[in-house]
Amino acid sequence: MIEFKNVSKVYPGDIKAIDDVSITVEHGEFVVLLGPSGCGKTTLLRMVNQLEELTEGEIAVEGNNIQELNKFEMRRNIGYVIQSNGLFPNMTIEDNVMVVPSMLGWTKEEKAERFAYLMNLIGMPPEQYGESFPHELSGGQQQRIGVARALAADPPVMLMDEPFGALDPIIRSRIQEEFLEIQRSLKKTILFVSHDIDEAIKLADKIVLLKDGKVQQFDKPAELLNQPANEFVAEFVGEDSVLKSLSLYTVKDLLEGAPPTEGAAPDASDAIFEETASLRSVLSALLTPSQKNVWLKNNEGRIFGPVSAAQIESFVHRMTVTA
Ligand SMILES: Nc1ncnc2c1ncn2[C@@H]1O[C@H](COP(=O)(O)OP(=O)(O)O)[C@@H](O)[C@H]1O
Ligand SMILES: [Mg+2]
Repeated sequence: MIEFKNVSKVYPGDIKAIDDVSITVEHGEFVVLLGPSGCGKTTLLRMVNQLEELTEGEIAVEGNNIQELNKFEMRRNIGYVIQSNGLFPNMTIEDNVMVVPSMLGWTKEEKAERFAYLMNLIGMPPEQYGESFPHELSGGQQQRIGVARALAADPPVMLMDEPFGALDPIIRSRIQEEFLEIQRSLKKTILFVSHDIDEAIKLADKIVLLKDGKVQQFDKPAELLNQPANEFVAEFVGEDSVLKSLSLYTVKDLLEGAPPTEGAAPDASDAIFEETASLRSVLSALLTPSQKNVWLKNNEGRIFGPVSAAQIESFVHRMTVTA
């Protein structure tokens, strides 16, 4: 758990980067700090692990006021991932990932076991990558290693500052999904910085939307889209909030809420989406000119469809007005 109580930060030159922020990130919650460049996201994040000092207020991590904790002790309980992954270029991947456990004096066996676990978690076989150096890996692989390193000593809290921001859109999207999958089983308390509303909607349990260091709205993604607290929020989430809401719902939701009729066997050139696919991806397929029919498949293997864009739109509309 991370608690911010009336936190402010003034940089030299009277720059008020954070202005009276009070929010709580509950245990196991994934919270995204969202907002335009310069709104104070990085500053707020860096105050948690004392890379920046607070000017006013209080921050508590796992119930302990950070100012009463030893900085170095404290950082071991917080995983930190940044955009420029911060890997040490002259150290092997294994040594990079195991930096904190090494500092903590883990035995060789403990470290080897943990390293293998983490590498399998991020989908990079330990025997294949352990002896590699960072420059031998792709950007996406380096970011995965950054995540593995942050998880190494199993910290309850993770701070992530645009960790996937430097990756190209396709790789980024894949890593976001992998990371969500990991989070579903690990249930870390995560504070994650992004300036990208789509990324925030996809990942967050809750979003903190900031402007000029002030919280504009702290809410679930659906609430931000459907009930923006003010003009700024409405403008930031954009005109096409119904389209964005599509990312919040899956094929499973549609099949439970407003199932299309059970259909015949699809043609070889048709698309079939499984229960876990987002309705946004289904709609994109429907809007692709070359696409023939789009079908939905439930976990029992039953096929429904063909589904129409209008069906999806009316489902999402119904969900958002009744939410
Ligand atoms: N070390 C610093 N010294 C002075 N001003 C800073 C410093 N770091 C950030 N700022 C200012 O604080 C504000 C918030 O910056 P930052 O937290 O980096 O925003 P974001 O991460 O949302 O882009 C900006 O106006 C920025 O110029
Ligand atoms: Mg920043």
